[in-house]
Amino acid sequence: GDSVTQTEGLVTLSEGASLTVNCSYETTQYPALFWYVQYPGEGPQLLLRASKANEKGSSRGFEATYEKETTSFHLQKASVQESDSAVYYCALSDTVAETTAGAEHKL
Ligand SMILES: *[C@@H]1O[C@H](CO)[C@@H](O)[C@H](O)[C@H]1NC(C)=O
Repeated sequence: GDSVTQTEGLVTLSEGASLTVNCSYETTQYPALFWYVQYPGEGPQLLLRASKANEKGSSRGFEATYEKETTSFHLQKASVQESDSAVYYCALSDTVAETTAGAEHKL
């Protein structure tokens, strides 16, 4: 089915340096794409999203552009702070809108 691939593992940066976290996706459809951030001791939370090709999602100085040509959604920040230390997850949406008999499908 659909998948995302993140290429960076642990990234160590000095304060003020720029950050890129790569994400490539494989899908037969046009899903929404997401970056989640998980700060130490917390659950994952939505950082930003883009729901169509060429759309740019941005939040808290982070941005990522839905690149349909290169099937990528790289996360970038120009100047990182110590408080950006976290785990970053790339994700794509459920693309199946149908439901099976008797089940309700909430998108
Ligand atoms: C991240 O993506 C860029 C552009 O697509 C590429 O040049 C670079 O090698 C990638 N980095 C990693 C670690 O995969």
